[in-house]
Amino acid sequence: MPRAAPTLVEYPDALRGAEGPTLAARVSSYLVAEIQRGRLRAGQRLPGSRALAVSLGVERDTVVRSYDELIAEGWLTSRAQAGTFVAAELPVRSVRKPKTTRVAVPERVAFARPPMPALSIESISRGAIYLGGGVPDVRLVPREALARAHRRILRTSPRTRLDYGDPRGEPTLRRALARMLGEERAIAVDEDGLLVTHGSQHAVDLVTRVLVRPGDRVVVEDPGYPPIRDTFRLAGATLVPIAVDARGLDVAALARACERAPVRLVYLTPHHHYPTMAVMAPERRAALLALAKKQRFAIVEDDYDHEFHFGGRPVLPLASADAHGSVIYVGSLSKMLAPGLRLGFLVPPRELLEDLVRVRFASDRQGDHAKEAAVASLIDDGELTRHVRRARRVYLARREVLVTELRRALGDRIEVEEPSGGLAVWARIERDVERLRDRALERGVMFFVGKDFTFDGRSLPFARFGFGSLDAQELTRAVRLVGEAARARVLRRK
Ligand SMILES: Cc1ncc(COP(=O)(O)O)c(C=O)c1O
Repeated sequence: MPRAAPTLVEYPDALRGAEGPTLAARVSSYLVAEIQRGRLRAGQRLPGSRALAVSLGVERDTVVRSYDELIAEGWLTSRAQAGTFVAAELPVRSVRKPKTTRVAVPERVAFARPPMPALSIESISRGAIYLGGGVPDVRLVPREALARAHRRILRTSPRTRLDYGDPRGEPTLRRALARMLGEERAIAVDEDGLLVTHGSQHAVDLVTRVLVRPGDRVVVEDPGYPPIRDTFRLAGATLVPIAVDARGLDVAALARACERAPVRLVYLTPHHHYPTMAVMAPERRAALLALAKKQRFAIVEDDYDHEFHFGGRPVLPLASADAHGSVIYVGSLSKMLAPGLRLGFLVPPRELLEDLVRVRFASDRQGDHAKEAAVASLIDDGELTRHVRRARRVYLARREVLVTELRRALGDRIEVEEPSGGLAVWARIERDVERLRDRALERGVMFFVGKDFTFDGRSLPFARFGFGSLDAQELTRAVRLVGEAARARVLRRK
């Protein structure tokens, strides 16, 4: 007669709750649960049957039967001499189900419209082409010099670069950035007046946490850069869209909005307006600064791609002409160097600095000082300037390829000019621009259209094509596919 199964309490905790008609089945369901929870990982070696039997408080035979059962079901594999392992490919039912939560979740933040259509990283690696957002070519980054500097810093200064440090950022990087801002952008700041961040998105988030309270009115550009709207929405701001035309933000419309109700903050991209690349006109800049002084709102100037200005005189930031401490200047190394490095900076009026530093400390304490010091050394030894000079030449040539190819592929359907700056072009495509985008996506090319950037999702007869990250051959192939999409029957019928 088989021995009666002992009652649950006689087992150690491991088998409590493991169900099954037999003891071996319960051992099996216990092991499967451990695999599903991720405590036993694919390919991991299991204890020998004797050892597991002892720790579970069962007979060795029971474990052997359970192992056999699980090998038959595909959960485990056994290799002669080596032992028993969790299978590398688990049976389908092993996919872990997400737990339903009992956490009380507040009302969801009303984020911007659904995410923009995008190619997945996998599809790009399979050959699809991202002709989207004006991003730089990270293949051009002086990676060897950066790696050397990083290695040297890790080797020589662990005490200062791997320990907790100043939440404002690594001093050598603050010094290098302050010097660069003074020399190239006419912004007078020293290393103590500047805060290094994880990019400009992070910088705007810090400013928002300090200045914006639920219900405050925050002005954004329309069309504009959607991810920043979500930063303000997270703080409970009421967004006020103000139109942008070829001369930049419509300051007269902003003045009218201020008459209706106070505005806390105005966010804008005056250097190369995102997404149209318009450069803000001098009289509008002066009018904006005067209005900020009168209405006491803060201006967040997002100068995300300052270096890549190709035509005419360089335009200095609003911050360089700000006599009343209205402008919070935000910069980024994402275009100058690489977005994945996550490095940006913030130059606020002095009175805001301490609060910004405290918020930064409260949210993520500090940045990666070894990385920051490595980048500082690229700035100090001139490597970054040389890289920007080289990259600018490359981008200029690519812009020409893109514009020439677009005109060739789309003929009179497109009106496109070379912008004075930035890594993208804003082209008028009067007819069916959204349908063209969809057809191009089907062919593996992604670009943005006007509707992606408008505040209310209305259509605009424009497309934005980036040229920084693709070489001439890649650009030509991408635009050829857009041309094919344009010639597709569905589009011609209209
Ligand atoms: C207008 C604008 N602001 C901010 C960002 C984000 O930059 P960062 O990588 O510095 O967060 C971008 C990135 O493309 C941008 O286009």
